[in-house]
Amino acid sequence: MNSSPVSPLVQDLDPEKMPAHVAIIMDGNGRWARQRLLNRVQGHEKGAETVRTIVRASREIGISHLTLYAFSTENWQRPKIEVQALMKLLEHFLESEQDELVENDIRLNTIGETERLTTGTREALARVIHLTENNKSMTLHLALSYGSRSEIVRMVQLLAQKVRSGEVDPRDITEDLVTQHLYTGKIPDPDLLIRTSGEMRISNFLLWQIAYTEIFVTPTLWPDFSREEFLGILKEYQQRDRRFGKIDV
Ligand code: IPE
Ligand code: IPE
Ligand code: MG
Repeated sequence: MNSSPVSPLVQDLDPEKMPAHVAIIMDGNGRWARQRLLNRVQGHEKGAETVRTIVRASREIGISHLTLYAFSTENWQRPKIEVQALMKLLEHFLESEQDELVENDIRLNTIGETERLTTGTREALARVIHLTENNKSMTLHLALSYGSRSEIVRMVQLLAQKVRSGEVDPRDITEDLVTQHLYTGKIPDPDLLIRTSGEMRISNFLLWQIAYTEIFVTPTLWPDFSREEFLGILKEYQQRDRRFGKIDV
């Protein structure tokens, strides 16, 4: 289902009002598979194709930061076979996409407890992160073993250590300092958060960072999410009035 009746073209978008950072909760792979009597892993495979489409579209449109929620800290509680399949899929994705990321000047970054990933997955990530480290046009942030509460706990631990060593005075702890100690330290807050598959929840994603983010939930399952629907959401985003608690003058 499209969020707007006619899907806009890239030219219909206002370059002045482009979100600098789009974050996406890619949800619904399992339901997409179940509807087709396929197994969940086949849903994730199809979902990986949508990742490719949306990364391409984001680069074409001129979005500077795209953050994709690929695996949450809670997702470790899924059956081992599904977790392993997701990690293998990630490794395949990195292998098949690395040339395109390089050619399109896209930098890869990860946010989350990547130390919990297997050596093979970490090596595959490190390889592509290294290959793309000087790319400037867009950064693709993959949230892997990411949980916002764990990120906040880690930030508190980092700041507490600095207080103990005397590097930071508690009175100097500001919103900026907190922001800097999150995984997303140097990344601007998302302007736009999209969740597919219709669930009206945040599922432990970027809790601090989305304080003033515009939220869109679409019933479309992630494997069915298209470039056209993405453009439609961007068009609708550009029509929103972002007041940041102030009043229009
Ligand atoms: C999103 O799809 C992918 C991950 C969370 C890894 P789901 O696997 O959550 O699919 P549903 O929500 O069960 O349909
Ligand atoms: C959120 O989806 C996490 C990712 C998209 C990686 P989930 O399917 O894990 O979240 P819930 O269970 O619907 O909250
Ligand atoms: Mg889900």
